[in-house]
Amino acid sequence: MISTADLRLPFAVRPLSPTLGAEIEGVSLAEDVSDVDFQAIYRAFLRYQVLLFPPEDIPPARQVAFARQFGEVQIHVMNQYHADGFPELYRLSNLDADGRPNGRHPDRGTLEWHTDGSWSRVTGQATIIYGEVMPDIGGETHFCDMYGAYERLDANWKSRIAGLRAVHNLDFSRTRRHGEDPMTAEQRLARPPVDQPIVRTHPETGRKCLYLGDHAEYIVGMPYAEGRALIEELNALAVHPDLTYEHKWQAGELLLWDNRCVMHRATAYDPATQRRVIRRCTVLGEIPS
Ligand SMILES: [Fe+2]
Repeated sequence: MISTADLRLPFAVRPLSPTLGAEIEGVSLAEDVSDVDFQAIYRAFLRYQVLLFPPEDIPPARQVAFARQFGEVQIHVMNQYHADGFPELYRLSNLDADGRPNGRHPDRGTLEWHTDGSWSRVTGQATIIYGEVMPDIGGETHFCDMYGAYERLDANWKSRIAGLRAVHNLDFSRTRRHGEDPMTAEQRLARPPVDQPIVRTHPETGRKCLYLGDHAEYIVGMPYAEGRALIEELNALAVHPDLTYEHKWQAGELLLWDNRCVMHRATAYDPATQRRVIRRCTVLGEIPS
């Protein structure tokens, strides 16, 4: 189990799995978070990679204010999802205007392992999700540890991918997974594909992680099909059951995680019978290296 004795935390933490994830106990995000508490939350964020806060009523403005303590908050290019008067918030909902399930999943791209904002030159740091309405069955969020994914590659793999860069492309992943609602021409223009290292060094912990996921389309300098096959193989190799935390939500919970060193995915639910509404924001981090 991860030790936090050196972190000097002014609150209790309950680990969620042996490798990643912890629940923070005794800090309310419904009120302003002091600098002292925030710095401690940030230390726990770097150590545990995924943090859970127990159910409470967190209004949209509070969520955005908390996100801003991490840094600049992304204004997502897919502006049809903006919510609650805050362009920083992104709502995924399967409800119609009367609050009934409409039968449509809002974004099936979320069902594949990915890391938020890898399609942007400056990639996602923390993503912060508040669960407004959660289904009884399905709609979980799963996390896998990308430090561990890199460490478990054998020497052969490590030398094979050293220095390789992958092109991440939101248009590619969106069309592939949710093609009935593709990006507009304007959205595509605003988010051209970008290349990122496959192995990145976390800028704060200094540890190496595998950095791929579902937005990665091809490998720079490699024939397209060969690069596709390599990405698919590595994305599958990256996920180890014993390095994964699977979260079954309760409404009112807030989850945040470090996109630089975890991948995540949602699990399916029946959008015709179940109700699921989340609002999320992603803080911008840095250009990976
Ligand atoms: Fe995501």
